[in-house]
Amino acid sequence: MDNLVCVSDFESQASKILSRNALDYYKSGAGQQTTLQNNKTAFTKLRIRPRFLTNVSNRDLSTTILGEKISIPIGISPTAMQRMAHPGGECSNAKAAESFNTIFTLSTIATSSIEEIAEAAPHGLKWFQLYIYIDRNVTLNLIRRAEKAGFKAIALTVDTPMFGLRLADVRNKFTLPPHLKFANFEGEKSTKINTTQDGSGLNNYVEKLFDTSLTWDDVKWLKSVTNLPVVIKGILTAEDAKIAVDIGVEGIWVSNHGARQVDGVPASIEALPEIVKAVEGKVEVYLDGGVTDGTDVFKALALGAKMVFIGRPTLWGLACNGEEGVKKILEILRKEFDFALALTGCSSVVDIKKEMVVHESYYAKI
Ligand SMILES: Cc1cc2nc3c(=O)[nH]c(=O)nc-3n(C[C@H](O)[C@H](O)[C@H](O)COP(=O)(O)O)c2cc1C
Repeated sequence: MDNLVCVSDFESQASKILSRNALDYYKSGAGQQTTLQNNKTAFTKLRIRPRFLTNVSNRDLSTTILGEKISIPIGISPTAMQRMAHPGGECSNAKAAESFNTIFTLSTIATSSIEEIAEAAPHGLKWFQLYIYIDRNVTLNLIRRAEKAGFKAIALTVDTPMFGLRLADVRNKFTLPPHLKFANFEGEKSTKINTTQDGSGLNNYVEKLFDTSLTWDDVKWLKSVTNLPVVIKGILTAEDAKIAVDIGVEGIWVSNHGARQVDGVPASIEALPEIVKAVEGKVEVYLDGGVTDGTDVFKALALGAKMVFIGRPTLWGLACNGEEGVKKILEILRKEFDFALALTGCSSVVDIKKEMVVHESYYAKI
């Protein structure tokens, strides 16, 4: 792994290791994948305005999220089915996050259960990502188990009444390999993903079991059944952000689901400023989508995110070397972010000011 020194090195290496079925599932965006590309290129259109001679000899990368201190403003997004990447799957990923004292978010449709994660990373800061099933008892059962297992927040994903059309998965007739299952469930909800009659098995699973009738009333319902903080994941507009704040959620996670839902939506980093403005500091705002470098973290924080999360980079780390691979990914991003701080005159996250990041068009106007 010594020759893998940035996230894209890991991506190239993982591409050589993973099966076509798994690689395409992890990598793909929806439709023609313009948003997938844009999630990354939008970061390159932002320029950093560094300041100098500010004494950066002591740097602190930590921050506080929902009252809990984390060592870096970089956490792990929920991504489904991680045991396709490595036998340790979500457990290895959670252990890596625990060792960095940052947040690991477990997907509802993970290949490791809530209880397995609690056992693998007992001291880690863990969030549970929730998909609401048509059967509310199934959903409630997940919430109660996450509470009991010591998870510290529920991240309700709202961008997925159904899953986007990921064309490679349709072509591959994507299914989860037979030795794996959705570990949070029993019976059909656990194994229906192992077969498909037609097209992507994941689309078929979700269409049958997820609730497409969800409204903001269901967010109120979620708030009424749990005392855990509720973070809304998948917000892309000021309008929805305001409704979420009015309902009383504790956090807003700006995300386009790694560009996997509907092609043509903005890059997460493009959507971030209008949401930060709408929220008026009333709740914390986070971002994921296309973060692959420490300077991306810096840019997102300057534009108002309290922290960022990464999805695919940890899958590449897992594929290359399990827990150690994810640790290396986190270490690469930690180091790059530390460099970004030092080389722009910042000693901590509070020193990252809004005016330090501008769109490239700023320079054309001068
Ligand atoms: C393979 C894969 C599986 C995902 N599974 C889930 C999921 O189960 N629940 C969810 O809320 N988001 C899921 N997402 C979206 C991620 O949480 C996150 O928003 C996205 O990966 C961030 O973009 P990035 O991959 O560019 O870092 C998934 C993304 C990928 C790539």
